This record gives sequence, C-alpha cells and structure tokens, in this order.
Amino acid sequence: MPKIVNSWNDFDPLKHAIVGRADFSMIPPEEPATSEKVPVDSEMRGMWGPRPTETVEKANEQLDNYVAVLEKHGVKVDRPTPLQWNQHIQTPDFRNDSMMTAMPPRDILLTIGNEIMASANSFRCRYFEYLAYWPLMNEYFENDPEFKWSQAPRPRLTDKSYKHNYYDEKISLEDRLIRTANKDFVTTEVEPMWDAADVMRVGKDLFIQHGLTTNRKAMEWFKRYYPDLRVHSVNFPGDPYPIHIDATFVPLRPGLIINNPHRPLPVEQRAIFEANDWQIVEAAKPAHDGPPPLCYSSVWLSMNCLVLDHKTVVVEESEVYQAEQMDKLGMNVIPVPFRDAYPFGGGLHCATADVYREGGMEDYFP
Ligand code: ARG
Repeated sequence: MPKIVNSWNDFDPLKHAIVGRADFSMIPPEEPATSEKVPVDSEMRGMWGPRPTETVEKANEQLDNYVAVLEKHGVKVDRPTPLQWNQHIQTPDFRNDSMMTAMPPRDILLTIGNEIMASANSFRCRYFEYLAYWPLMNEYFENDPEFKWSQAPRPRLTDKSYKHNYYDEKISLEDRLIRTANKDFVTTEVEPMWDAADVMRVGKDLFIQHGLTTNRKAMEWFKRYYPDLRVHSVNFPGDPYPIHIDATFVPLRPGLIINNPHRPLPVEQRAIFEANDWQIVEAAKPAHDGPPPLCYSSVWLSMNCLVLDHKTVVVEESEVYQAEQMDKLGMNVIPVPFRDAYPFGGGLHCATADVYREGGMEDYFP
C-alpha cells in the first residue's frame, strides 16, 4: 500500500494537501479566549451569527479556484466535510452557543512526518472543528499502513484556562504591546493549549510561537511528545495580537525566511538562524491599507503564501509588492485571488494543511 502522509516542513515539493471550505461558517459568540482576538475598533465586536451567504459563496468560489490551480500544479487536494457550525456545543466543562467553520485547516491539523495530529485549540468555538477532517483522517488511516492518526490531549477549557478581565475596553495598543513583550497572554498555564498554525516546522526543529493561542505548557508538552525533535519557543514583541506564526515568520526554502517588518524576531532568538547561515529578510509591504470586511486577520496575510517547492510559491493576486519580492528572491510566483476567503480565517497558507511533501527529516540547524 502507498505512503499517503509525509511532511517535515513548509517548503519541500508539495504533492497532496487539504484545502478548507467556507460552508455554514459562523462568526462565533464572544468567549474568554476570543474577545482577545477581536480588535477593539473592529466592526465585529459584540456581533455573532451566521456569516452572510453571499460572502460564503464568494469565499467558496475562491477556494475552489485555488484547488483547481493547485491541481494544475500537480498537487492532489482533499476537502473537509463541514458540520452545521451553528449548533451549540457542550462538554462537562463549558457550553458555547456556536462553533465556527472548516477554515482554516492549518490551525487544526499538524503534520509531522507520517503523523497528522489534531491540535489542542484554546477557543471553545473550535473544540469540535477537527470533526470536519475526520473522514479524511479515516481514509488515510485505511489506505496508508504507516499513517499515525492522532489527537493532542484535549484541553478542558474551563474558566480556569483563561485570565478574566485580562482584556479591558480601554486598553491601548501600547499596553497590548507591553503585554506581548512581557509574554502576558489571555491563556493561563493550567493545561497545554496550542493551535497548529503556531508551529513552524523545519525538519528536526519546531519553532513555536508563544502567544494568545499557544501557552508555555504546550512547549513542554511538545518536548516530551517529540523527543527526537528540538522545540524552540519564539516571540514577536511587535505583534499586539500574536496568533499563528504564518503571517509573521514564513520559510521559503532551506536557508531563507521572510519576517514581518513590524514583528521582528528578537536578536537573541536569531542566533540559531545566524549560526547556520539562514537569512531572515523583511517581508515586502502589503498592497492594501486594511483587511477586507469581517476579517479577523491583519493586512499581513500578504505574506501568508504557500510554497509548492524551493522555487515556486503561491501569492495572493493583488499583493504585487510581495510577488515582486518573491521574484527577486528567485521564486516563480503563481498568483491566486483570495481576498474574499480572508474573513474565514486567513490566507493561502492558512487555508491548507499538508498531507504529503517529498523529503525527510533534515537537520537544518546542526
Ligand atoms: N495573526 C495573523 C495576522 O493577523 C493572522 C494569521 C492567520 N493564520 C492562520 N493560520 N489562521 O497577521
């Protein structure tokens, strides 16, 4: 039987991926973890409910087109099975009035070698999102005898998992930046919590962003679960809402990373890259002044690109500066329109999860 699942990084030749779906997407009600995520000046504060149908249709159109482009470039693509996300959910520890969406898969699924693990997300509204991917996991399980189907320890997400009143309406951007610098986030340390999109995989090394969605205990959990890998906790003090690493620090090929110029990696954390001759270059500026309406993410989805191999990258069609920079860095650019999908949780990298990339576990930082 064939090997279906294998991926150790974000840049080796991509052969098989999962691309999310926008069907039935909700703006979830506020909860202890997400009120932190919605910026004070956002038009989304205090509102929740189904996303407008025409926005779902437009997002799905762009997602379907993205799938067609990937297939044209030799990538096999699978899609999740969305649930009725408007249902309320309940566990022995909490109740939430709705779920969210089957976007983006990058937040939920972490592929390391022949294992795909569903993450330990800190948002209650995302507690059951993994179910949308279970039919695919089962299919891989039945057809690839080496596939390791796994699930991180499920956090309980009781009130003890969050700092309450951490977020004050009056808090300024400066205050938020001070908190990020002090590594003072909304989550507590009662249990490991992490989103898969906080993990940057580079062969033997995992660089994991400590921020609003991933806590310190998760770092310790990773160290024990993957004793053969090296786990590095990274921070980006310039980010007032540090959630997910892939609009901040994005590897393009062995030896090259683009870094959000507003969120530089601190000097002491650069040492390992410098010692191994990796170049960290500032990402080009976004082409837009702001994100599209009803979007959680920042304009920096401009740098949230999907690398297909060491010389090929998919960049959002309107992000002309990012495309130009890629060209200068020696990458061939495949432009794909994707702004209508941004409100559903992210850009071109977020919207995918790796199933198969060629290559094995390399040690890039010996
Ligand atoms: N926090 C990032 C920003 O707004 C967005 C990251 C989205 N990534 C994801 N995997 N959902 O700049």
